[in-house]
Amino acid sequence: MQNYIQAKSAPIKNTGIIRLYDQEEFEGMRRASQLTATCLDLLVPMIVPGVTTQEIDDFVFKFGKEHGAAPATLNYRGYTKSCCTSVNHVVCHGIPNDKPLRDGDIVNIDVTYVLDGWHGDSSRMYTVGAIKRAAERLIEVTYEALMRGIAEVRPGAHTGDIGAAIQEYAEGERCSVVRDFCGHGVGLLFHDAPNILHFGRRGEGVELRAGMIFTIEPMINLGRPSVKVLNDGWTAVTRDRSLSAQYEHSIGVTETGCDIFTLSPAGYTVPPYI
Ligand code: MF3
Ligand code: CO
Ligand code: CO
Repeated sequence: MQNYIQAKSAPIKNTGIIRLYDQEEFEGMRRASQLTATCLDLLVPMIVPGVTTQEIDDFVFKFGKEHGAAPATLNYRGYTKSCCTSVNHVVCHGIPNDKPLRDGDIVNIDVTYVLDGWHGDSSRMYTVGAIKRAAERLIEVTYEALMRGIAEVRPGAHTGDIGAAIQEYAEGERCSVVRDFCGHGVGLLFHDAPNILHFGRRGEGVELRAGMIFTIEPMINLGRPSVKVLNDGWTAVTRDRSLSAQYEHSIGVTETGCDIFTLSPAGYTVPPYI
């Protein structure tokens, strides 16, 4: 049985209890999330052949600093960068480095700003130059999978409804869903209860209530679902080296459905972002 507590009366650590946030707290979350979404919008013109993922990371750090926000990933469990940059067969947690992006690459950029204690966590896919049709299709399927998961969110629904919607759609498109990483409660903590699985069965898992805030962040592969983590302790790659894509939004459950806190101010969804 799952427990819920008003965020204001709970200690700020992950105890497995699900925090419920009020309207004023939703507004704090929206401000942090819109800063993250604005950063992801501003990265678009930077993602061209020859740019390094370290240069992207430098921008994320600087833009946050200019707006009074810190990247949540910086010094998080030993991680030393301001974002994650996951290229081609990297599933998630790719570490920015000095290797230039090349024509035909696809890259996920995942940013979490902390602003006034609120964590806005979002990621999108970017294309470098001209990409193959299969890569373009994977990106479209992954975005649609996220949005179908979000469409399930309302009070009384279950986390399993989200996972089922994502899995049914992605597998119907002959893609696979990564099982090793999940969405998560977010808000005053970066990673909080509950876990949001991107696969599963309807009616299973935690019941959703108005006031919950969490991420949905499916990782979808063109090949097999299995992943391995490289020796750096972070970089997760597909075992079959097939392409992987991911999209992530931070959302809040409302009385009638949900608020998507990290929507793009520019209206960007899938590339090309114009
Ligand atoms: N932003 C990622 C997420 O969506 C977490 C990255 S943790 C890091 O939850 F340490 F790898 F950066
Ligand atoms: Co997340
Ligand atoms: Co993220």
